Amino acid sequence: MSNKNIPNHLFKALAEREQKGMLRKLTKNFPKIDFCSNDYLGFSKLGLLTTRIEASSQRSAMYGSTGSRLISGNSTFIEEAEKQIALFHHASSALIFNSGYDANLGLLSSVPQKEDLVLFDELIHASLYDGIKLGNATHYKFKHNNFEALKDLIQRHQHNFKNIYIVVESVYSMDGDVAPLLEITELITTLENVFLIVDEAHAIGVFGNQGRGLCNALGIEKKCFARIYTYGKAMGCHGAAIAGDEILRDYLVNFARSFIYTTALPNHSISAILRAYQLLIETDQKDLLHTNISYFYSKTNSIKDMIKSQSAIHSLVVGSNEKADLLEKQLALKSIYAKAIKSPTVKEGTERVRFCMHAFNTKQEIDILIEQLQKNL
Ligand SMILES: Cc1ncc(COP(=O)(O)O)c(C=O)c1O
Repeated sequence: MSNKNIPNHLFKALAEREQKGMLRKLTKNFPKIDFCSNDYLGFSKLGLLTTRIEASSQRSAMYGSTGSRLISGNSTFIEEAEKQIALFHHASSALIFNSGYDANLGLLSSVPQKEDLVLFDELIHASLYDGIKLGNATHYKFKHNNFEALKDLIQRHQHNFKNIYIVVESVYSMDGDVAPLLEITELITTLENVFLIVDEAHAIGVFGNQGRGLCNALGIEKKCFARIYTYGKAMGCHGAAIAGDEILRDYLVNFARSFIYTTALPNHSISAILRAYQLLIETDQKDLLHTNISYFYSKTNSIKDMIKSQSAIHSLVVGSNEKADLLEKQLALKSIYAKAIKSPTVKEGTERVRFCMHAFNTKQEIDILIEQLQKNL
């Protein structure tokens, strides 16, 4: 196919993807039983997040913030929200970004400098990796969750770089397993100029006191240089915040381009974020989620290719895009929505179907899923 007004390589790239079974497509009309969405606590689906704007002075910016935070998009409301977020996460400051993608891009592209080194887990989310790539620092990956490999890299390179940044996720988005945060923090407290960045996207709402995240559960919040909390997953809404020292906040306001050059979130979104924090404190959705995680885990942990996880994310590695597609389709026939995660999103050979547990899943739904897995494996 060709068209005079469209560059030819667009057709070629898409055709190649299609041929390899790798073509990404937008879908809708999902099967009824949700083992797919990131709405782990049901704040969105159960309608718990219906927001209200408290004061009339904030109504004007309800659906449009009218500009970047540095131009006309800032307000007392958003700054107060950031103070509450910082307080909740035991940080001295927090800065809200329009999404987790923006937060990670802004942080990683602006903080590490040319004379620095970034060491990152090979399975970090694309948003972190894209940020690192946009920046000027040297960067090396280490094998997933391999603390010894990370330690070795630090020892080898410590004297060749001004600062070292370690980038991990507390809960990994594809495998659902957790980073060796205690070992990492123990190591870096003995070292100069080594800084830890933890993406808590899949840990907020799931781990820690009132869902404060895994760093809170492990008592290491203060040992991190930066923690990223995203609101599109267990919090059921949208946006993200970076928690850290005030100097980090000032730096990001000045240098994080994904913060500076974009229209700020409107008050409607800020309100939703605040309401989600309230729900973390006031509801027991987290306990319901963990009951379901434990039940699913107890029934499936003997399946050979199921990646061990105590988080909301559980993945069954099937090893090819075709097999992942097939299992997704077989489950859909029983009204189960679980997503095939294919290469190139994950490494070739590790294609899988991912099951996300939720507070609202019933025991009966989980039993149907387990029965279907046993039938189709
Ligand atoms: C670990 C991790 N970080 C960041 C993001 C991006 O967050 P957002 O969806 O808010 O852009 C995601 C989203 O999938 C994620 O899994």
